[in-house]
Order: sequence, then C-alpha cells, then structure tokens
Amino acid sequence: MAKRREQWSSNFGFLMAAAGSAVGLGNIWKFPYVAGHNGGALFLIFYIIILVVIGIPILIAEMSVGRATHLNSIDACKKINPKWAFVGVIGFLASFVIMSYYCVIGGWVLKYIATYIVTDKINNPATFFNEFCSSSIEPIVWLFIFIAITALIVMNGISNGIERISKIFLPLLFLFIIIIAINSLLLPGASKGVKFFFVPDFTDINSAGDVGKIFLSALGQVFFSLSLGMGTLITYGSYLDKNANIPKNAVSIPVLDTLIAILAGLAILPAVFAYDLEPGAGPGLIFQVLPVVFANMPFGRFIAILFFVLVFFAAITSAISLLEVVAAYFIDHKNVSRNAAALGCSAGIFIAAIFVSLSFGALGGFKVLGKNIFDLFTTLTDKILMPIGGFLMCILVGYVWGIPNMLKEISSNGLYKFRYKTAISATLKYIAPALILTIFVVSFL
Ligand code: PFF
Repeated sequence: MAKRREQWSSNFGFLMAAAGSAVGLGNIWKFPYVAGHNGGALFLIFYIIILVVIGIPILIAEMSVGRATHLNSIDACKKINPKWAFVGVIGFLASFVIMSYYCVIGGWVLKYIATYIVTDKINNPATFFNEFCSSSIEPIVWLFIFIAITALIVMNGISNGIERISKIFLPLLFLFIIIIAINSLLLPGASKGVKFFFVPDFTDINSAGDVGKIFLSALGQVFFSLSLGMGTLITYGSYLDKNANIPKNAVSIPVLDTLIAILAGLAILPAVFAYDLEPGAGPGLIFQVLPVVFANMPFGRFIAILFFVLVFFAAITSAISLLEVVAAYFIDHKNVSRNAAALGCSAGIFIAAIFVSLSFGALGGFKVLGKNIFDLFTTLTDKILMPIGGFLMCILVGYVWGIPNMLKEISSNGLYKFRYKTAISATLKYIAPALILTIFVVSFL
C-alpha cells in the first residue's frame, strides 16, 4: 500500500519553514556587504525589482511543480516529462554540494557560541579564527555536531521536525536581530554604517557597465537568498495541501527574507563603522570583524551570544531544507525509511564536508583550477548549478509543462483568482531565462 505523504500541519508552519530556508548565511554575511559595495540604495532598488519580477514568479513555478506532483524534485521533474528529470538532478547535486560547505560554516558558528559562553571576549579574533579553521580536528567535531542536529530535525519529519523547529527558530531569530539592530543603531558613530548601507555611492559607478554589474550581483543575490533553482521549493511545496494559497506564500517568503536581510545590514554595518572597522564579505565579516566590535561594546558578550545563536538559527533552517531535498528522493523513490534516508544522506554530506573543512588547513594546497575545495564548491553552486537550475526550471514550467497547467495548479481548482497571468507567463518564458543567461555568460567574462 502506498504510504500517505506527509503534510505541513498549517500554512504558518510551511511559511516559517520556507522562509527559514531562504533566510540564511546569505542574508547575514553576504547581503549587507554586497549592498554596501554595490551602490547601497541602488543595489536595494535593483534587488527589489528583480525580486518582484523574477524571484516571485520562479518561487510560484517551483511550488506549483511540487504541489502538483507531490514528489521530490527529481521525480517531480520526471513526472512532468521523463526527459526532464535531469533538472531535478541538478538541484539534488547542488543541494548536496551547498550542504557540504554550509555545514562547515554552521560548525564554526557553534564554536563561536561555545567560546562566548565560556569566555568574556575573543582577543585577537583574526588569529583566533585562522588558527581554529586551519586546524584539522576541532572544526570537524563542530561540523559533525551541526550535521547531527540537522539530521535529527529531518528525521522527525515534516510537521514534527522541520515545521516545529522553524516555527520556534524563525520568530526568535527575528526578535534577536531586532534587539541587535537597535543596539547597533544606538552606538555613537552608527550613522556612517547606515549611510554606507542606504545612501547610494556613485563614486565607483562610472559607466553603464558598472550599473550592469550591480544589476547582476543583485540577480545572483536574489537567487541564492530565495533558495531558487535547487528543488528546495519543489520539495517543500510537495508537502502542501491542495488548498494552500501558493501566490500568497510566494509573496510572504521574499518579504520576510528581505526584511531580515535589511535588519542584518542594520545590525552589522552601524556597529562595524562605529568602531572604525572595514566591513568585509564572507567569513571574515562575522568571524573576524564582529568579534572586535563585541569586545569593545557594552554588553558585548551577551550581544555576541545572541548574534551567533541567531546566525545558527538562520543556518540550521536553511540546512534542513537542503538535507530534505536530498533525503526526500530516497524516501519517495527508493522507499527508504525517513530515518535511514536522513542518516545516510547526512553521512555522505559529512564525508564531503570533511574535505571542505580541511581545505582551510591541511588540504589548503590542493587546488583545482587555482581554487581550493571551498572556493571550488561555492563557485560550482553559485555560478554554475544555481543559474543553470533556475534557467531550466523556467523552461520546464514555461514550455514543457506549460503556463496553463501551472495556472490551474495555483488557482487550487478555481479556489483562488490570480490576476497576473500574462506577467508571469512573460517572465517565465522570456524575461527570466534571458536575464539568467546573461548573468551566466557575463560572470565568466
Ligand atoms: N537561502 C540560503 C541563504 O540565503 O543562506 C541558502 C540556500 C539554502 C540556498 C537552500 C539554496 C538552498 F536550496
């Protein structure tokens, strides 16, 4: 007898889980920096336009494919057209690869929480960070703990595991980030950071090509931040009830995601500027620059714990969505139990992640195309698998499945009216594929 497919217990639960997938390290360490260095307000304007014009339609497309098929991403694409299963395979592979570096960073976050619990402050954060991440054993232990927590949540299932945790972690994250943003904004000298974030700086923008670059960084950020092109939304959508309102959710998810990205900018940048530090992108910003800020600010240790706990919440709710994409395939397709699928996939990810972790130390000299394993994996997903996945998703829904089928799915058999039929059709068939293709080509120039 066929197993009854699991479901979200409420729309709020689904929304928290999907927004939890979107809100992640991308919001906290990428968005504030990328926005600041790409013309501030101009980047924000581009980001919001792309979010509305491309992000929301692709979100709708992915969720409809999931809900229409009630299958994992590979089998969902296969059901639409057997020749197109490879689109799901790309998302599956990309999820696996992203997980392998996301968990390494998740482990670092746990290490920082533990450090601030036992010590007052980190003296000399740059040395502390470099020594820690280049050592062989300790980061792997933290990585293991992070993956074990992710696996445990996924093993508990959709409504009991993923949904339950997201319903607690996301609202708490929101609360913590507001507290930290208020604290940052009250620091003397905070306004420089606010200016860096919001006020357009045109000094570096001299040509149309520069404006084009800002546009492309905004497009890349929208993709990563909304977890698009990876099968995450297909998988989460596949546990949706037939009466769920897809377009409404597709608006709420980016609204929450953007709100948190902006709050992250307000939490981080004013504090960095108040202490005359330089914001940097990526690991450096939260692991090396912010500890200097925490060491100097009143109640720094308390704020540091709050901050790293919120980063942990953001990272784990994204990690569970990535593990679910991989595990769902084995659960649906191979009839493996949820426990075995989650554990088996986590074990595979753990092995790959060990190599990523070692690429900061012992395996640092091992390079492919001039990149260490970490850089190789991030480039492979950000620049290759995600854009290709997004592009193919538009073609699959726009031409292979067809817009009328998608529209039928999102109306929930006539329950909801959808007014933007022409707009979504134009986006999925022409605008989004053309833009993604452009970003893809230009990023290699
Ligand atoms: N959206 C997450 C972030 O902003 O950190 C990253 C991510 C999660 C990307 C899940 C892709 C994905 F499928």
